[in-house]
Amino acid sequence: DVVDKGNYRHFMLKEIFEQPESTARTIGAYVNALNQTAALPNGQTLDFAAFDRVYIVACGTAYYAGCVAKYWFEKYAKLPVETDIASEFRYRDPALTKNALAIFVTQSGETADTLAALRYCKEYGLTTAAVVNVQTSTIAREVDAVLPTLAGAEVGVASTKAFTAQLCSLASIAIIAGRARKVLSKKDEARLTDQLMQIPGLITQALKIEDATKEIAVDLSSARDVLYLGRGTMFPIAMEGALKLKEISYIHAEGYAAGELKHGPIALIDEHTPVVMIAPTDHLLEKTISNMQEVAARHGKVLLISDENGAKTGADTPWQTLIAPACDPFISPILYSVPIQLLAYYIAVEKGTDVDQPRNLAKSVTVE
Ligand code: G6P
Repeated sequence: DVVDKGNYRHFMLKEIFEQPESTARTIGAYVNALNQTAALPNGQTLDFAAFDRVYIVACGTAYYAGCVAKYWFEKYAKLPVETDIASEFRYRDPALTKNALAIFVTQSGETADTLAALRYCKEYGLTTAAVVNVQTSTIAREVDAVLPTLAGAEVGVASTKAFTAQLCSLASIAIIAGRARKVLSKKDEARLTDQLMQIPGLITQALKIEDATKEIAVDLSSARDVLYLGRGTMFPIAMEGALKLKEISYIHAEGYAAGELKHGPIALIDEHTPVVMIAPTDHLLEKTISNMQEVAARHGKVLLISDENGAKTGADTPWQTLIAPACDPFISPILYSVPIQLLAYYIAVEKGTDVDQPRNLAKSVTVE
């Protein structure tokens, strides 16, 4: 398939705007909307009741999708998860358990370190699965179960729609595991699948913050360092936000758990260090808001990304606020990917970098 940019200036922007469709397609592969149930695609099965843990192994953006999934698998399926960066995993002599499931998350299905980690687990005799976008890839061919993401071809080196598709697959799989392990009732399954079905529409709404993001980006483009903070599933989203920014704008950025602020990063805060606080309404909002106030008290420039309620709770502490639609905390990591992608994109555009082909980076890394 030849993919073109259409009316978009960059593939990255086009791919950000494709997310209502790419998430809908991916969720549709796992969720039966009529029955409000979830199942693995193509009649595949994995015996989630028999697994005693899950290893999630990946690189880059895919690794952060795995970090979000850890929260989902543990909360909704009471299944312990260890997340690993593929290049660390097989060299650290991991103490693998025989009844574990190893999930490899990969857009390309060709990343050398992820492939090597897969072969390591196969040799050990583990059941393997891949959350993978390219169905004909080496990793897709070698795993026991192929858990597809239907993002479509992704051209921009900085991953966007592949990331949200990975999250949609992993969220669905967590529901499937939760049912199999009897942690979730039929009613829970119906409620959670219903939340997943709302994602495409909510992303369409979230994309409306494009203009507001553009304005903020003008100011942030002169920053030397940017800190991203979040709690719970927003912690990996903060790390992904920082990765997006450094990949395409070359501004140094770090993603941190908001609660860790006082254990180090707070020393970096001054009026020159913007802090992006990702804080949707959930059981952690108050705590994140209080971290935001700690930043503001040190003259840090806070960009709050939240919903109407969060913006009200934060009152006038932030320098700027980006407002996303209200949503259930289950799906917020998927929805909040959108503002951080748009923010990185418009900061990079403001800086005039080569957004689709950032220096030194490759779309698929097939060497160690
Ligand atoms: C490269 C890409 C990233 C991607 C990572 C893992 O670094 O630039 O966007 O997240 O590889 O790639 P994979 O294809 O395994 O998801």
